[in-house]
Amino acid sequence: MTRVNLDGLQSFYALSNARQIPLLGLGVYLIEPGKATEDAVLWALQAGYRHIDTASMYRNEVSVGNAIRKSGIPRDQIFVTTKLYDHDQGFESAISACELSLEKLGLDYIDLYLIHSPNPGPERRNDSWKALQKLVALGKVKSIGVSNYGVHHLKELLGSNPTIRPVVNQIEVHPWLTARKLSRFVSLSIIAVEAYSPLSRGHKLEDPMLGKIAAKYSKSPAQVLVRWSLQKGYIVLPKSAHKDRIEQNADVFDFDLADGDMNVMDSFNEGYVSGWDPTVAP
Ligand code: A2P
Repeated sequence: MTRVNLDGLQSFYALSNARQIPLLGLGVYLIEPGKATEDAVLWALQAGYRHIDTASMYRNEVSVGNAIRKSGIPRDQIFVTTKLYDHDQGFESAISACELSLEKLGLDYIDLYLIHSPNPGPERRNDSWKALQKLVALGKVKSIGVSNYGVHHLKELLGSNPTIRPVVNQIEVHPWLTARKLSRFVSLSIIAVEAYSPLSRGHKLEDPMLGKIAAKYSKSPAQVLVRWSLQKGYIVLPKSAHKDRIEQNADVFDFDLADGDMNVMDSFNEGYVSGWDPTVAP
């Protein structure tokens, strides 16, 4: 388990390239572009979040950028991630896709640019990684990483002796999908795990065992799930389109889950995938 200080929303994790990433970010997958996304991002920034995770595939980059500008918070105090989607993988197409994301976000640089999934196959993954390295050299992107990579995809990438190694692998992880082998391999490779769908997309919030643990700490099931990810050493990206929940999901720095409760939650594991699972792609 990675040891980091869990002091509050301003807690950072030092990536392997020494850049700092706020441990808790707002995920905006499935938030409608326009007012819904702008509101959610603004509420999050007002609540103290300094990390927003979007993707070209989410179609809401324009709204994320608008909210960042409206917030009045200096650009260098907000960590923005976006992702290269499957149909844009390849060298030239990845460069163009990143430029388009920058234009939509209205930003000069992206803090973290990720290959969204390994699905397009080995050749395009390799060309895409070369493009991401080039984007760092061009100053358009500060850090690069991957998402939904399985162990074999990471071995392929690390085995190609890249000039720049990935700093994160963003994967679905929560107590019903602990992804133990994968997260261990990722951590041993000095790559940070970013947990998406940390609330199991809401599918397991009614779990009675989770409810018991939450009651013990006078916290909501969602807060206990966010805290579980943090105590695992993961960067965590809960999604909500509601102000009260966005605030609630960040109010997780005033309690500690006991080891016994962490272990009980680990035992929920049933390999439950709430969305897609590209980690098994060839
Ligand atoms: P909503 O966006 O309507 O608030 P995940 O982060 O695992 O993908 O989960 C997101 C799902 O969990 C969404 O359906 C979201 O709904 C819901 N959700 C987010 N925060 C909370 C919360 N604090 N309590 C209950 N449901 C939540």
